[in-house]
Amino acid sequence: MFGRVKPLDAILATAEKKSLHRSLGAFQLTMLGVGAVIGTGIFVLTAEAAQKAGPGMMLSFVIAGVVCAVAALCYSEMASMVPVSGSAYTYSYAVMGETLAWMVGWALVLEYAVAAGAVSVGWSGYFVGLLREYLGLAIPPELVNANALIAHIKLAFGAPMSDELVTAIDVGGYINLPAFLIALLVTWLLVIGTRESAMVNAVLVVVKITALTAFIALAIPVMNSDNFEPFAPLGFAGISAAAASIFFAYVGFDAVSTAAEETKNPQRNMPIGLIGSLGICTIFYLLVAWGVIGSVGAQPLLDSAGKGIEPGNATAMAAACADVAGQAVVCSKEALAWTLREIGWKQIGNLVGLAAGIALPSVVLMMMFGQTRIFFVMSRDGLLPEVLSRVHPKYHTPHVVTIITGIAVACFAALFPVGLLADISNSGTLFAFAMVAIAVMVLRRTDPSRHRPFRTPAVNLVAPLAIAGCVYLFFSLSGYTLSLFAGWAVFGLFVYFFYGRRHSHVGRGHVEVHEGDPETPPRPVPPLPGGVELD
Ligand code: ALA
Repeated sequence: MFGRVKPLDAILATAEKKSLHRSLGAFQLTMLGVGAVIGTGIFVLTAEAAQKAGPGMMLSFVIAGVVCAVAALCYSEMASMVPVSGSAYTYSYAVMGETLAWMVGWALVLEYAVAAGAVSVGWSGYFVGLLREYLGLAIPPELVNANALIAHIKLAFGAPMSDELVTAIDVGGYINLPAFLIALLVTWLLVIGTRESAMVNAVLVVVKITALTAFIALAIPVMNSDNFEPFAPLGFAGISAAAASIFFAYVGFDAVSTAAEETKNPQRNMPIGLIGSLGICTIFYLLVAWGVIGSVGAQPLLDSAGKGIEPGNATAMAAACADVAGQAVVCSKEALAWTLREIGWKQIGNLVGLAAGIALPSVVLMMMFGQTRIFFVMSRDGLLPEVLSRVHPKYHTPHVVTIITGIAVACFAALFPVGLLADISNSGTLFAFAMVAIAVMVLRRTDPSRHRPFRTPAVNLVAPLAIAGCVYLFFSLSGYTLSLFAGWAVFGLFVYFFYGRRHSHVGRGHVEVHEGDPETPPRPVPPLPGGVELD
């Protein structure tokens, strides 16, 4: 199982062929991180976190932020030492062998592709709100979710008819059309080779930070301390569950570690960039959460037995929201805009909605870009069919894998709710982060003298903490999410043993470096949302 290792020196030879200009300082790295991180998590999932934890979601934001910070420190040691395509997949190949590397690559599909779907759905909520507020257009409910379609599918698979299914069929929809279309639009942009420039990233960071700042400045003055009681209506289990979901809000900082090779003085600047961007996001997230709770309250809706309703249970949530006439932040699909409208700042609420509408598609783009590059590298290693690493003759992009990924992302976005997609994405990310922390510890023992441009500080404390934190959040996800993760992993192992293992280049004794191949796209490196030029 651990036998097939891709020698680190072969991987590093790849990196050495690309001589990158070290131009990024701590400030640019921080901007890169903030641009990649702020998205659907804070703009949309705040409502889900409130439904799971109530005001205790403040603690959930802190827990998820700390786990990300320690994972980030491990990530950057690997990223600075093995600064090549494939991120966690490549590190695992070098350290723990092909089978585990495959599993990490397979889990990264969840991290990137499913996250792209989640962000598309998050964007859809704001887009629908914008059409309503600015143009007075109401998209029919049939076209903003797929609850009725899913209910029909459940019935077709033999689920017993229940009140829940009847209601879903009566009031649910058939497709989330805006989410579907934005995912396809982003796919097209990627096929024709669009990358976000440093300028666009900087503008979007300013847009997002301005929107969050305006939110905080308007929500905090109308704070009512009574809204914080009871602080944890669903106990610590609720806080843990919300932390596992809101972890999504921090995902994306790995973009900073992938820029290791272009960083000036990475030993100093990488941790500043990583911890700096995570720190800034954590502060904003806490202030935003504080503002939401204090201004409009964040108590979860309960069922008749007094238990918190699962935010993923669309039918029960719809019924409970109807009971309160939608007057609860947990009912909103555009939590921050809704809160501002509720406290009397309608126009500013609409502008915050506009900011989300403008900025979220770039997060979809980064996530999908990351996914195509992971598949590309796995295909180049022989673990996935060669057709996936074909490059378009005109656009020089891996168009086949981009189109396949884009269609899959569009389908997830069309069918599933944002919370479920974010949780599934988190399961894959947490698995990958834990594997990276393990890889760091293993490599410190097996190859202690190798040059490490960045060393994880107090590694014997930080790496185990990262592993423990990831395991804790992973098991705080819902049983349903974990069973989907397990199903995906089993399916992945099946594909590996029936395809990947037989076609693996390492298995066949080829460990040559591919960077010079004519089929290699011009920038075969994971996403650099800051638009850093790689060659
Ligand atoms: N952290 C990113 C978001 O919240 C994925 O959208």
